[in-house]
Amino acid sequence: MGFETRLIIISFVMLSCLLNPSTQQQQQQLDDMFEEYALNSLPTRPQTGVLYNASSSLPSNFTGVQLSMVRLRWDSFWRKGANYSGFLMPPRIFAYPFFTRLDIVYSNLGNQSSFYYNVPNHTLVAPVVGFNIYASGNLTKLNLTLFGGPILVEFPVPQHEKAKCVMFYSNGTYEMSNMTTQENMCSVRDQGHFSMVVPQVPSIPIPEKKDRGKLWKWWVFGFAVGVLGLLLVGFIVFVLIRIFRMTSIAKMEKEAEKNEVLGTTNVGQSKMPLATVVRTQPTIENDYVP
Ligand SMILES: *[C@@H]1O[C@H](CO)[C@@H](O)[C@H](O)[C@H]1NC(C)=O
Ligand SMILES: *[C@@H]1O[C@H](CO)[C@@H](O)[C@H](O)[C@H]1NC(C)=O
Ligand SMILES: *[C@@H]1O[C@H](CO)[C@@H](O)[C@H](O)[C@H]1NC(C)=O
Ligand SMILES: *[C@@H]1O[C@H](CO)[C@@H](O)[C@H](O)[C@H]1NC(C)=O
Ligand SMILES: *[C@@H]1O[C@H](CO)[C@@H](O)[C@H](O)[C@H]1NC(C)=O
Ligand SMILES: *[C@@H]1O[C@H](CO)[C@@H](O)[C@H](O)[C@H]1NC(C)=O
Ligand SMILES: *[C@@H]1O[C@H](CO)[C@@H](O)[C@H](O)[C@H]1NC(C)=O
Ligand SMILES: *[C@@H]1O[C@H](CO)[C@@H](O)[C@H](O)[C@H]1NC(C)=O
Ligand SMILES: *[C@@H]1O[C@H](CO)[C@@H](O)[C@H](O)[C@H]1NC(C)=O
Repeated sequence: MGFETRLIIISFVMLSCLLNPSTQQQQQQLDDMFEEYALNSLPTRPQTGVLYNASSSLPSNFTGVQLSMVRLRWDSFWRKGANYSGFLMPPRIFAYPFFTRLDIVYSNLGNQSSFYYNVPNHTLVAPVVGFNIYASGNLTKLNLTLFGGPILVEFPVPQHEKAKCVMFYSNGTYEMSNMTTQENMCSVRDQGHFSMVVPQVPSIPIPEKKDRGKLWKWWVFGFAVGVLGLLLVGFIVFVLIRIFRMTSIAKMEKEAEKNEVLGTTNVGQSKMPLATVVRTQPTIENDYVP
């Protein structure tokens, strides 16, 4: 089976049913595999309290995944907690069964996050980061009880509005909570994998879109009707003014006809002035007298 086929199957499984036993098993296998690769990448005499980068020991199909590990003495972890790789663990974390040393394996799934972890109807807005605590050099995962408050997880991405924390605990359940108020952090109660999610926009928002479309159409329709109405009113006003003017001109002309019947005469259909020509004639006659 090819890599792509496997990825497709993995994504399909993740999409169809979240955190069913098989995906949980897969995640558990991933955690154990990370512990193995981290152990293999350690120098022969690893120091306690030093964070070792194990990213390069991962197989090539995990490009983009970051892995690191720190080895601590149990009593130091109990007294001081640990602050590595974006996880602030307070003192008084009880890891059992008891081993003198323990290994904390940190992972950042990078661009492969959503192949392993998903939340229905939500989108991841940060890579899935996680940690698991093992007995030193041994694949036994330890159980944790927190007596000194929660562990704070810081995400290597900018703050995102409306983002919520999501916690994938190793028992296969996931929980969501608000981000902590002061920083871009999530507060968690156990080992596991963590991320930030935002609610997905519903994929079929037909009712709202239809309403908006209708509203938009109504706006256009209303605008068109308004413009047409204005044009019509303008036209009517224009026509009325024309009619008013014509009737008043006709009236004036009638008045004029009444008053100066003698002044004009009908030539065909138009009226021509006649009287004025006649009145100036006498002076010419006077000058002409020899
Ligand atoms: C670990 O090493 C890889 C390359 O091997 C590098 O890309 C990554 O940034 C390193 N991580 C840390 C935390 O230094
Ligand atoms: C990568 O390869 C390892 C074995 O080399 C395999 O166990 C693992 O499932 C592979 N991961 C993916 C994402 O295919
Ligand atoms: C993840 O990113 C790395 C580069 O950082 C790239 O080489 C790799 O192909 C990417 N993997 C996937 C599954 O997108
Ligand atoms: C934890 O480590 C981070 C970065 O390494 C640092 O900024 C922060 O102050 C540390 N917190 C405590 C309580 O030591
Ligand atoms: C996801 O959304 C779909 C449709 O909006 C809904 O039917 C389904 O119940 C939702 N799933 C969960 C787990 O909330
Ligand atoms: C881990 O340690 C326990 C107790 O010492 C031991 O019984 C077990 O075999 C060890 N497991 C491995 C994988 O080394
Ligand atoms: C750790 O916790 C799990 C479930 O919470 C339980 O099944 C397991 O037995 C515990 N291991 C130990 C060593 O107490
Ligand atoms: C799973 O683990 C978390 C964290 O330890 C716990 O709060 C939750 O109750 C557990 N759920 C189940 C079903 O065991
Ligand atoms: C989470 O935040 C929302 C608003 O951002 C608030 O209404 C809600 O009460 C908060 N929930 C908790 C558990 O604090």
